[in-house]
Amino acid sequence: MDIQNILLVLSVIGLNQAFTLDYDYGGIPLWINRLRGEPSVLSLHGRMDSRWFRAVNPQACPTECDCPIQWPSSVYCDQRGLRNLPIDIPPRTQYLFLQRNNISTLPADAFSNATHLHWLLLDHNQLISGLVAKTMLANLSYLENLFMNHNNLTEVPSGLPHGLRQLRLAYNKIQKISPRAFHNLQNLTLLLLQGNQLKTIGEEDFTGLLSINLLDLSQNYLEEFPKHLPPSVQQLYLSSNFLSGLKEESLQGFHSLRYLRLSHNQLRNMALAPNAFNLSSMVELDLSYNQLTSIPIMPSTLQYLYLEVNHIQEFNVSSFCRTVGPVDYSQIRILRLDGNKLAYHQLPPDWVMCLRVLHHIFI
Ligand SMILES: *[C@@H]1O[C@H](CO)[C@@H](O)[C@H](O)[C@H]1NC(C)=O
Ligand SMILES: *[C@@H]1O[C@H](CO)[C@@H](O)[C@H](O)[C@H]1NC(C)=O
Ligand SMILES: *[C@@H]1O[C@H](CO)[C@@H](O)[C@H](O)[C@H]1NC(C)=O
Ligand SMILES: *[C@@H]1O[C@H](CO)[C@@H](O)[C@H](O)[C@H]1NC(C)=O
Ligand SMILES: *[C@@H]1O[C@H](CO)[C@@H](O)[C@H](O)[C@H]1NC(C)=O
Ligand SMILES: *[C@@H]1O[C@H](CO)[C@@H](O)[C@H](O)[C@H]1NC(C)=O
Ligand SMILES: *[C@@H]1O[C@H](CO)[C@@H](O)[C@H](O)[C@H]1NC(C)=O
Repeated sequence: MDIQNILLVLSVIGLNQAFTLDYDYGGIPLWINRLRGEPSVLSLHGRMDSRWFRAVNPQACPTECDCPIQWPSSVYCDQRGLRNLPIDIPPRTQYLFLQRNNISTLPADAFSNATHLHWLLLDHNQLISGLVAKTMLANLSYLENLFMNHNNLTEVPSGLPHGLRQLRLAYNKIQKISPRAFHNLQNLTLLLLQGNQLKTIGEEDFTGLLSINLLDLSQNYLEEFPKHLPPSVQQLYLSSNFLSGLKEESLQGFHSLRYLRLSHNQLRNMALAPNAFNLSSMVELDLSYNQLTSIPIMPSTLQYLYLEVNHIQEFNVSSFCRTVGPVDYSQIRILRLDGNKLAYHQLPPDWVMCLRVLHHIFI
């Protein structure tokens, strides 16, 4: 199946199904690279006849799984009600699909015959930290994508292999990241930790993450804006926590930060340093569903600002433009202010000069 066919399948099965696919992988779609021979991420379960797979493919395949001939290095064992791993995973396996089973235990030799794994998908199982052997990932030096969303993990798995590029641990019960848990993951670009029970981030928790691009810490129990985040981060998601403010230095040094999501927190102007968001790299800022009464100072480079459902009752052009002139204006394209205590006629006359490239305002 090539990418056209996959898109076709997506359009045939409709938007709802496509969204489900998205959710399966922790909310961030898994993009596949056909040129590297990466397989389809759509479940084959119930869509193709297993006996047919077995009849046309002479290669060894665990009895519980399907091994389609068009992806010779993929083994699909998803949605089988498995309580344990299949024991005879063939050594050729690079892409192993085990999502939506009932697996709680991963013994030390779980993947000892499958050391060429590139992707290991274990979303929606019952994995328990105490039953996941500490060395089970030790020899997987080719592993790039490790997905363990929607399990019962209380800790970040140990012995993570150094080649990882994506680690998805969303919707578990992780309360604490251990110091240096990710210290050797210099190539990791995506780390999903949303939907866990994190209260604080320790000084060394993210040590070693030199390439991280997207970090999702939404839906945790954070009460303070975390210090010690990796400085390379470009997309930082902290929605649905218990944050009340940011300090002047909270975002200092984050020269790559482009997208910051802070919706559904308890942000108040009192606890927010006036210049906290004045960061020229920033493109999109989501502050919706908070308790702001006025608009904080925004960098003039910002293009998308979401402030809906706060308690904002004043609109001061100086939040967007310190001066207004031929070259001094705000880059804001979309501004949402609906669900506040503001009406269109309250906007001061000079706002149009400042927000001169605005496409949409919601008020
Ligand atoms: C997992 O086990 C529970 C009870 O042990 C069962 O109700 C459920 O259907 C199983 N899930 C799958 C995907 O087989
Ligand atoms: C690994 O392969 C050996 C030899 O084929 C086999 O005896 C063993 O059970 C396999 N181990 C696992 C965990 O599948
Ligand atoms: C990893 O490889 C080493 C050396 O080949 C071997 O001794 C060890 O048992 C392997 N560990 C696992 C968990 O498979
Ligand atoms: C995992 O957590 C779910 C929800 O909290 C619970 O129903 C289930 O029994 C747990 N599974 C195991 C194996 O502990
Ligand atoms: C990181 O990625 C680079 C470039 O793809 C690769 O050469 C290097 O071996 C990787 N490092 C590790 C530790 O896997
Ligand atoms: C915001 O940051 C820019 C660039 O770093 C700086 O020139 C400007 O003075 C800052 N604005 C305010 C209001 O502090
Ligand atoms: C807008 O903010 C500036 C700077 O904080 C302040 O000097 C000015 O009085 C404010 N204007 C209004 C109409 O509140």
